[in-house]
Amino acid sequence: MTAKLIVANWKMNGNIKKIEDDLKFYVNNKMTNRVNVVIAAPSVYLPIVNQILKNSYIKIASQDVSRFANKGAYTGEISATMLCDLGVKYALVGHSERRFLIAEDGSILLSKLENLLNNDIIPIFCIGEPKQIRDSGNYLEFLITQMELLVQVSRPFTHLVVAYEPVWSIGTGILPSDEQIMEVVNVLQAFVQSYLVCDKITVLYGGSVSSKNIENILRLPLDGVLVGGASLIVEEFTTICSIE
Ligand code: PGA
Repeated sequence: MTAKLIVANWKMNGNIKKIEDDLKFYVNNKMTNRVNVVIAAPSVYLPIVNQILKNSYIKIASQDVSRFANKGAYTGEISATMLCDLGVKYALVGHSERRFLIAEDGSILLSKLENLLNNDIIPIFCIGEPKQIRDSGNYLEFLITQMELLVQVSRPFTHLVVAYEPVWSIGTGILPSDEQIMEVVNVLQAFVQSYLVCDKITVLYGGSVSSKNIENILRLPLDGVLVGGASLIVEEFTTICSIE
């Protein structure tokens, strides 16, 4: 059985000292220095992250990628080609914070996906419904509409990671029930089977994952977790990575 994928999303947190200290700890700990552990650090620190992790098993993710390809006059942007140069293996696309706070729409997300695939970076495509959509009962339609973007990608996926992150669970401490998680995971898997050309699909759950609930979540038939707040605390994240 493949180990479950554990992705840390540090968001806009940390500084050089914390990042160096935490990563050195993870590299020297057999629970965290593993191929199934992925860390999405703020882009500005990726060279330091790459330096520390380059001889470890831990993989590097980027929290974002430019919608523009390769290089050019795009002030402030970081291309997939540049991320590749920094040892990045995965990149988040469509996180609800970017969809809602930065107003990233389908056409932007589609360009990002194309750029990642052209550079052999595995997309971690995030989907999730806000609370009012969940309460309206139309959440599956909403999530399928988000998934439909993937059908427009012009090349097949070698490996696609989809993270189901209900917006009402992110940073709130509110965890969906097992049934609520699995209802969506099953719909996602069926969608991928029916509509996408994809050699490997990994389905993650994200939203208020912590050392307290990780055992229960990883017992469900899904492929791993995306961890926000709890991944900033070394003891928490180490415990999360220790669950088989
Ligand atoms: P959280 O965030 O674990 O702090 O809820 C998850 C995420 O936004 O990826």
